[in-house]
Amino acid sequence: MSTQTPLLTTPPMPLQTDPVASAVREGLSAQRKWLPAWLFYDAEGSRLFERITHLQEYYPTRTERAIFTGYADGIIDAAVRIGAEAHNGQQGSLRMLELGAGSASKTGILLDAAVRRQGTTEYLPIDVSATAMDEACRGIAVALHGVQVRPQVANYVTDTLSIPPHAGPTLALYIGSSIGNFGPEEAVAILRNLRAQLRAGDSLLLGTDLVKETAPLLAAYNDADGVTEAFNLNMLRRMNRELRASFDLASFRHRAVWNAVESRMEMHLESTRAQVVRIPSLGLSVSFAAGETIHTENSYKFTPRSIAALLDAAGFRTAETWNDERSWFAVTLAAIDSR
Ligand code: AVI
Repeated sequence: MSTQTPLLTTPPMPLQTDPVASAVREGLSAQRKWLPAWLFYDAEGSRLFERITHLQEYYPTRTERAIFTGYADGIIDAAVRIGAEAHNGQQGSLRMLELGAGSASKTGILLDAAVRRQGTTEYLPIDVSATAMDEACRGIAVALHGVQVRPQVANYVTDTLSIPPHAGPTLALYIGSSIGNFGPEEAVAILRNLRAQLRAGDSLLLGTDLVKETAPLLAAYNDADGVTEAFNLNMLRRMNRELRASFDLASFRHRAVWNAVESRMEMHLESTRAQVVRIPSLGLSVSFAAGETIHTENSYKFTPRSIAALLDAAGFRTAETWNDERSWFAVTLAAIDSR
């Protein structure tokens, strides 16, 4: 009998350590195909998202910015008050931390209010992308004197946060309704992870998009210029480039639907015909029936009650809320009480 190793007819699959490869393998092998929304954000996807935030139909960015513009001083005052109440009036200066790297235009409004109040302020953006962080830091540094920026590259979804100690209160920002791109359990886990690093007297400013009539929601995720469509389809382009997949972009179309039961906007990519897509680097062939979709994003929409429930589950107390005049968006300040 031969002791030689038998010849393999197919080469062994390499271990999938690349997060893009593992996410695509898992999502496209599922019975209901899906892909995680973080796959949107390659360089082109980030550019397209930036364009989305300026679209007439995409109200969230503009609306949140208007709330900050109208109430920045009140928001900073309230955060300072929470700190003072927890420490019998004694405290150092307020610093700001942000999950995700903020744009100078939005975060800058709050930093500016803090600098006006106390002369200087520390700003700690936390983001998984060093490039996004660089751009944000440069924007903030150029636009605002008196802000000391201390960036941290970390994945706040998967890693335990580690925040340096500070003599005064910390106001953590999680804005832009980014929390809405996570399911309820993951959303609580993200806020709990943050909560674990904060102390009594610190607070969280959470930006959330609210439930409203269906028409403006559908328009916001299906704009007339097709920017959101290009953003969604870019995921296929990314797989073609990074995994040598053979997606024919012309035979998929963008779908945005309101799911009232789950209180979320959903984005899908719908196959317009029966087809098989090959992804050689994963050794995968993916069959699509005509009309079958890949679910690419959830964007949860909140009510005052669901915001309070989320904050409560994560260990925060809702302190104050600011809205725009149509109540389309909420900015909620949540405190950490001493127990
Ligand atoms: C980043 N995130 C809050 C956006 C949203 O509205 O859920 C992403 C987006 N998807 C389509 N348009 C914008």
